[in-house]
Amino acid sequence: MDLMEQLEKIFSEAQEAVASTGSVAELEQAKARFLGKAGSLTELLKGLGKLSAQERPRAGAAINQAKSRVEALVQSRRDAIVARELDAKLAGEAIDVTLPGRRQGAGGLHPIARVQERVEKLFATMGFSVADGPEIENDFYNFTALRVFPNHPSRSMQDTFYVAGSELVLRTHTSPVQIRYMEAHEPPVRIICPGRVYRVDHDATHSPMFHQVEGLWVDEGISLADLKGTLAQFLRAFFERDDIAIRFRPSYFPFVEPGVEVDMAWPRNESTKPDSPREGGETRYLEIGGAGVVHPDVLRNVKIDPGKYSGFAFGIGLDRLAMLKYGVDDLRLFFENDLKFLGQFR
Ligand code: PHE
Repeated sequence: MDLMEQLEKIFSEAQEAVASTGSVAELEQAKARFLGKAGSLTELLKGLGKLSAQERPRAGAAINQAKSRVEALVQSRRDAIVARELDAKLAGEAIDVTLPGRRQGAGGLHPIARVQERVEKLFATMGFSVADGPEIENDFYNFTALRVFPNHPSRSMQDTFYVAGSELVLRTHTSPVQIRYMEAHEPPVRIICPGRVYRVDHDATHSPMFHQVEGLWVDEGISLADLKGTLAQFLRAFFERDDIAIRFRPSYFPFVEPGVEVDMAWPRNESTKPDSPREGGETRYLEIGGAGVVHPDVLRNVKIDPGKYSGFAFGIGLDRLAMLKYGVDDLRLFFENDLKFLGQFR
């Protein structure tokens, strides 16, 4: 094989080798096979010395030309590889500006918190301020000051969570706040006490923790009529309808005399809420809380003269109000923290 044939063969080997490389590193290896220290073209150059002075220039020129052709091959392959790698990198880091943005979810108030806020606002328009107290109470404020004596059966109506080895209980109602408030303030007293309360109870309409709003108005000449008027006005404003009727049923609570259960009715034949009190076209009454005229002994317990002052008190379930307002038929939904449920109230 003469030199020219040899160079053609090497060049076509180089073409094949270079074309099959996929990375710069592979390309360097391929290049070395031809142009490296022991590369085939380098070897040929080394052999020039054996040629005659006559042959040498032509052969040298031919080999050098082959060398530059291979170098050019390598260079263009290198450019191609680098361009491809850059394209891949850019594609990998590309931002698809047509994708919808990621939303920052806006939080919202829990439905019970919204109801509580609304209740506070509505009572404020009637001159009630908001009073607060501890959720871990002692026996005196939660029970005894309210005439729920240690062995009285009415304690079992509110069986609660006792803190072992102490006089402490998780409050069963917010009435203890009323006691604390009356201890610290002279009449007239006009407050509501919203907050969490605890009882050993658990089903679709009772949960071991729930929310109450209790109200208290103590002044000269306050009667059951004031109670009824206040509650009716509140409920009409809360549910935004004028045709809400309320009914008092005689009942017993140790801290009031007389005591009543407060029932609320929706008008006949009209309902949009699943839990609304319509059954076969008849009005159904729903119990929403208890109330009554504050027992004289409770006033005495907080050094208020029952000869001069009287008052009413009521306690309503905030969760019940929320169930009615939003048409929720299972109380437990409020406390499962399922965002699909809670998100509907924003
Ligand atoms: N404290 C009572 C309860 O939680 C409710 C109530 C308040 C009843 C005021 C009468 C008067 O059961």
